[in-house]
Parts: sequence; structure tokens; C-alpha cells
Amino acid sequence: MSTVLIEIRRAKPSDATLIAAAHDEAWRTSYRGIIPGPELEKLVSRRGPAWWDGALRKGSRVSLFVFGDTVAGYGNFGRNRARSLPYDGEIYELYLRPEFQGLGFGRRLFQAARRDLAQTGMKSLVVWALSDNEPATEFYRALGGRPVARSSETFGNKTLDKIAFAWPA
Ligand SMILES: CC(C)(COP(=O)(O)OP(=O)(O)OC[C@H]1O[C@@H](n2cnc3c(N)ncnc32)[C@H](O)[C@@H]1OP(=O)(O)O)[C@@H](O)C(=O)NCCC(=O)NCCS
Repeated sequence: MSTVLIEIRRAKPSDATLIAAAHDEAWRTSYRGIIPGPELEKLVSRRGPAWWDGALRKGSRVSLFVFGDTVAGYGNFGRNRARSLPYDGEIYELYLRPEFQGLGFGRRLFQAARRDLAQTGMKSLVVWALSDNEPATEFYRALGGRPVARSSETFGNKTLDKIAFAWPA
């Protein structure tokens, strides 16, 4: 019998290569058919190991969901960027590799990010998701997020709606 260690922990710069691989796989599968191919390719290739290493060295807060020696997913979070929205914190990204989705790990990663934000005084939070990313919007609704704002983002020649979900303090 073998034992697999499952943990959520803070990322370090030495995790950069593993996070980049998880990001690459999760983004390609989540956004294929939503974000135009060449734009998706640019978004993914921009975020290689060097980008993650730099972000972590500059103090970005990234939590990893580690399954054995695999980074199954990650969440990054910090201060809310949208000044017009009255929430303290924001989860910028929350992504699991496809084979780790639907097993309750997303909820655990979300709760860990929320706890981490609350510990530094950010008790309310917001998350943006593309409206066309239905699994994500359903996930945030299931976690009690309330849609509070809409905006849009342009990827090449395609403009996509996005929704902000919020959790009050
Ligand atoms: C979105 C994501 C983080 C959710 O994580 P997950 O581990 O798959 O979700 P969980 O298993 O923790 O589900 C938590 C709850 O959300 C619900 N949920 C999750 N996905 C759902 C879906 N597609 N439709 C309806 N409900 C869903 C679950 O039923 C569960 O609710 P319950 O506990 O009341 O049964 C994950 O699927 C993922 O990484 N997707 C691709 C990347 C992505 O789109 N990230 C978000 C970008 S904004």
C-alpha cells in the first residue's frame, strides 16, 4: 500500500516550473473554444516558469493544492483591484488540472485562500469569472458567491463578458 500526501501550502519560487505546468494545462482546457486560439496561446506562453518565479519573489500570494509530487492546482489572491467594488480581497485565479476537478479540491483551495486573506484583514472578497466559463460560475454560486457586477474583456477580436461574485465579511 502506498500513501499519497495531499496538502495545501504556500508556493515558493522553487515551485515555479510546476505551477507553470498546472497553469498551462488548466488554462488550455478551460478556455479552448472560449478565448480565441492565438490569444490563448499568448496568455499561456507569457506565464512560464520565469513569470511565476518573478511573481513569487515579488511577494505574490499563491497557494498550491499538492497531490503527491504533482501540483494539482493553485490559487492566487491579494487586494481587490476594482476600486469601484467595496470588497477587501480578491481571488485572482483558481485553477485545477482537469483530472483533479469535481472532487472537492476547488472548495478547499477557495477556503484556504479566503482564510489567508482574512488573516491579513481582508474579510470580504470578490472573484471574477468569464460568463462563458459556466463550470466556474456554477462553482462560485455553489460556494455562496453573489453576482455583484459585470464587465467585459477583449481577447483579440472577441469581447467576453465577465461576472464578479462577492462574499461579504
Ligand atoms: C472551477 C474549479 C476551481 C472548481 O473546483 P472543483 O474542485 O472542480 O469543484 P468542487 O468539487 O470543489 O465543487 C464545489 C462545489 O461547486 C459545485 N460545482 C463545481 N463545479 C460545478 C459545475 N460545473 N456545475 C455545477 N456545480 C459545480 C459542486 O457541485 C460543489 O457543490 P456542493 O459541495 O454543494 O456539491 C475547477 O473545476 C477548475 O479548476 N476549473 C477550471 C478552471 C476554472 O475555470 N477556474 C475558475 C476561473 S475563474
